[in-house]
Amino acid sequence: MATHLLLFGLLLTTCSFALASDPSPLQDFCVADPNSKVLVNGVVCKDPKNVTADDFLFKGLNIMGNTSNAVGSIVTPVTVTQLKGLNTLGISMARIDFAPWGLNPPHTHPRATEILTVIEGSMLVGFVTSNPENRLITKLLQKGDVFVFPQGLIHFQQNVGNGYAVAIAGLSSQNPGVITIANAVFGSNPDISADILAKAFQVDANVINQIQSKF
Ligand SMILES: *[C@@H]1O[C@H](CO)[C@@H](O)[C@H](O)[C@H]1NC(C)=O
Ligand SMILES: *[C@@H]1O[C@H](CO)[C@@H](O)[C@H](O)[C@H]1NC(C)=O
Repeated sequence: MATHLLLFGLLLTTCSFALASDPSPLQDFCVADPNSKVLVNGVVCKDPKNVTADDFLFKGLNIMGNTSNAVGSIVTPVTVTQLKGLNTLGISMARIDFAPWGLNPPHTHPRATEILTVIEGSMLVGFVTSNPENRLITKLLQKGDVFVFPQGLIHFQQNVGNGYAVAIAGLSSQNPGVITIANAVFGSNPDISADILAKAFQVDANVINQIQSKF
């Protein structure tokens, strides 16, 4: 009984420290050492004495991404992979370019809330809630508008104009991750069986085969 209480107490203590984003750093910085063979939650730190200013620098977010693809949008990420100094800091960013009417298709970031601002053009954005179930929250954004997509929720952005559009997003993780719904469901490797998806989406298996053939 005492053991159970102790365990329960420990659990409560652990829960009270649960965080909505990456854990707080316990030092000034922990520049990622991509050459380390050690696997930890995050990336191993480079010797702080060997850190240089370039470890905290990323260049090129002024460069427009190539939007010539099926959806007409491209994300240029600046996460710990591109910017080693982000390791343990719980933050990252991205540039999103849109061709006319281009779409950043429904996707979710398993580890981050996203805050986005429109730099050029106008876009229709939205996310779907889990509680109340499946409510669509949507807004038409103009240049300068800022919108937030809560952590884990499925969201999208579409350029609703005949010109190019650009957005800049901040994310509350050094490694937000992205699951694009269509790619994950219809483009997994190996495929999720057409029977399963036909039942889930309430369509014929041949409809599923047709969609899977696009991914
Ligand atoms: C740090 O830099 C020094 C001098 O360049 C080098 O000898 C040493 O191996 C480096 N240490 C680490 C941990 O990379
Ligand atoms: C953009 O991507 C398309 C498709 O991959 C490619 O054909 C084209 O050459 C690229 N354009 C530039 C400017 O890199």
